[in-house]
Amino acid sequence: MKYTLITGASQGMGLEMARECASLGRNVLLISLPKENLNNLCENLRDEFNIQTDFYEIDLTGGKSAEEIFKWVKKNNYSIDFLINNAGFGGVGPFEDYTLAYVEKMIDLNIKATTRMTHFFIPELKKNSPSFILNNASMIANFPCPYKSVYAASKVYVKYFTEALRIELMSFGISVSLLQPGATPTNEIVKNQIKKGGFLARVSVTETHEVAKKAVRNTLKGRPVIIPGWKNRMSLRFLKILPYSLLQIVILRSYKSMQKN
Ligand SMILES: NC(=O)c1ccc[n+]([C@@H]2O[C@H](COP(=O)([O-])OP(=O)(O)OC[C@H]3O[C@@H](n4cnc5c(N)ncnc54)[C@H](OP(=O)(O)O)[C@@H]3O)[C@@H](O)[C@H]2O)c1
Repeated sequence: MKYTLITGASQGMGLEMARECASLGRNVLLISLPKENLNNLCENLRDEFNIQTDFYEIDLTGGKSAEEIFKWVKKNNYSIDFLINNAGFGGVGPFEDYTLAYVEKMIDLNIKATTRMTHFFIPELKKNSPSFILNNASMIANFPCPYKSVYAASKVYVKYFTEALRIELMSFGISVSLLQPGATPTNEIVKNQIKKGGFLARVSVTETHEVAKKAVRNTLKGRPVIIPGWKNRMSLRFLKILPYSLLQIVILRSYKSMQKN
């Protein structure tokens, strides 16, 4: 039986993508930190959509986490034909104010976990092709972002990694898609950032279920890049034609206003 494996599935976009997959009749495996109610979420999805579900609780920043997940999948004979690398986090603030431990954790989750999960599951996805990988980056991956420097840089990694893999894996029947959401009110921290944010943050807001729906459906259609929300697509086009000096001012203003409030 085929399954979609989703990281960061206890809440936010990950949970909404699990619901979207389930609504399409896809079986789902949910991965998240321990004690985040994954058992109940699985039961609810099973009852509501009549699909198969299971979960695995683990901190994805651990060096062996992807390997552990892979072994658990194999032990249970789950066949994966869709991998969603969604788990990630980022804060707002001057780089020098963050502890190195915090920054390293961000790199471990946003970059290393995505890389490791993909590496472990490619053979499985090849075996079960046609299959899919969806990597969650951000609109932020298109610009340098002061006060979100490491987060934005980590998402640039995800963007280029995904776009390159798409070409490598095409001939194996694996379609690789890049998700670039704008501001999405998933949790209280993000909602607060949107409220305090400048033009860029506010103009790009798209509801979480809408982002999830676009992400899952367009990945299954084989789309290379998914930017949910017409306002995001328009603002991206606009920002891309701005001269670099003007772009710096717009971006700096937007993130400074988030900082000040
Ligand atoms: N929200 C936005 O505005 C926005 C915009 C662009 C891109 N994104 C990206 O979209 C993705 C999802 O964001 P979101 O806003 O939906 O986040 P969220 O609501 O905070 O959910 C994050 C998910 O990742 C899990 N997670 C966090 N740290 C983990 C770890 N060390 N090990 C395992 N699981 C972990 C969380 O589990 P717990 O519940 O256990 O903490 C949760 O399930 C991220 O990659 C983010 O960078 C978000």
